[in-house]
Amino acid sequence: MITLNNNFHLLPESYLFSIVRQRLDAYRQNHPEDEIIRMDIGDVTRPIAPAAVAAMHAAVDELARTESFHGYGPEQGYLFLREAIADYDYRRLGIAITPDEIFISDGAKSDLGNLGELFSHRARVAVPDPGYPVYADDNIIDGRNRTDAPIIHLPLTPENHFVPPTPDRTPDLIYLCYPNNPTGASISRHDLSRWVDYARRVGAVIIYDSAYEAYIRDASLPHSIYEIEGAEEVAIEVRSFSKTGGFTGIRCGYTVVPHALKGCYADGTVAELHRLWMRRQSTKFNGASYISQRGAAALYTPEGRRQVEESIDYYMENARLLREGMAAAGYEAFGGENAPYVWVRTPDGMTSWEFFDHLLERYQLSSTPGAGFGTNGEGFVRLTAFNTRSNTLAALRRLRD
Ligand code: MLT
Repeated sequence: MITLNNNFHLLPESYLFSIVRQRLDAYRQNHPEDEIIRMDIGDVTRPIAPAAVAAMHAAVDELARTESFHGYGPEQGYLFLREAIADYDYRRLGIAITPDEIFISDGAKSDLGNLGELFSHRARVAVPDPGYPVYADDNIIDGRNRTDAPIIHLPLTPENHFVPPTPDRTPDLIYLCYPNNPTGASISRHDLSRWVDYARRVGAVIIYDSAYEAYIRDASLPHSIYEIEGAEEVAIEVRSFSKTGGFTGIRCGYTVVPHALKGCYADGTVAELHRLWMRRQSTKFNGASYISQRGAAALYTPEGRRQVEESIDYYMENARLLREGMAAAGYEAFGGENAPYVWVRTPDGMTSWEFFDHLLERYQLSSTPGAGFGTNGEGFVRLTAFNTRSNTLAALRRLRD
């Protein structure tokens, strides 16, 4: 029989959100009459921004006519979208990221899972704990959780305001996510500078997941890691249209790999990571669909931007209601001010899965158990603000009554 990639053997049995879904399915089978309010996975509930819908309709029509039909697109993504991103997401903030440094993808999750291919199997990795499970899982699959160099878990706790200290053991690759999933915390310019300086000092690369950047409310917070001086030499930034344009089902995101970011091969030859990522993408990816890229570009028009802001306002009002409602119901709640997630401490020393069961059985509310995001997530659950207003209010009513 063929020998398999043994690293899969080392992974948790299932992906966190699949376990949650299985638990909910089992509950539904036993209680078909109950109506569960979903507050687990961060999936949007509002329809796709109308400007994107119109652009995608037009794109389909273009593809339906011989004169305007086109097939494979550029692996890196269409220039019209990369220019819009460079303009609005970077140049507007005074950041000199060029369209050539932007790679369009089918979403942040794929990129976060694939970027590990750029680095040696011997690279030492640091992931936030709690953290989006993809960071650790991808590195386990790639064989980077070795007994002689286990993955470094950076603790995100209420005591450190969910911004970890730099670790004692030096990593080569560091994952950071702000606004943070799952804790809903944010990072100050000062703390982000501390991490960029650290990476520069130790020669590490930061993979900066800023999928929730658009949810930042506090004007003092950095929107991009490239606002920090020197970050273009040490950081890759990953973003998504899922939580802005409602693209969780459409699939489109992007990754910035600046030309200034360099590493070296085993023989000492220096290379731009940009070149490697381009090579990787052109070998393994045929580009995000033309339709989704036209949709994403429409989010940068004045109309699209207004619609995105409206959606974000809507979800952030849910976040406020959740944060304040949970506190009023006697729970200790964090986050939700610059991020669409609220992180709730479990009461009475319950484990996060016990509290998950309690919320489900007693109130028919689903949550994401913090332990699924890492050891430091134990004792917490995550609630998502991606919901309808009426469900958010109904959930809080159930908890109060
Ligand atoms: C989450 O719930 O953490 C996210 O929705 C998952 C994702 O974006 O893949």
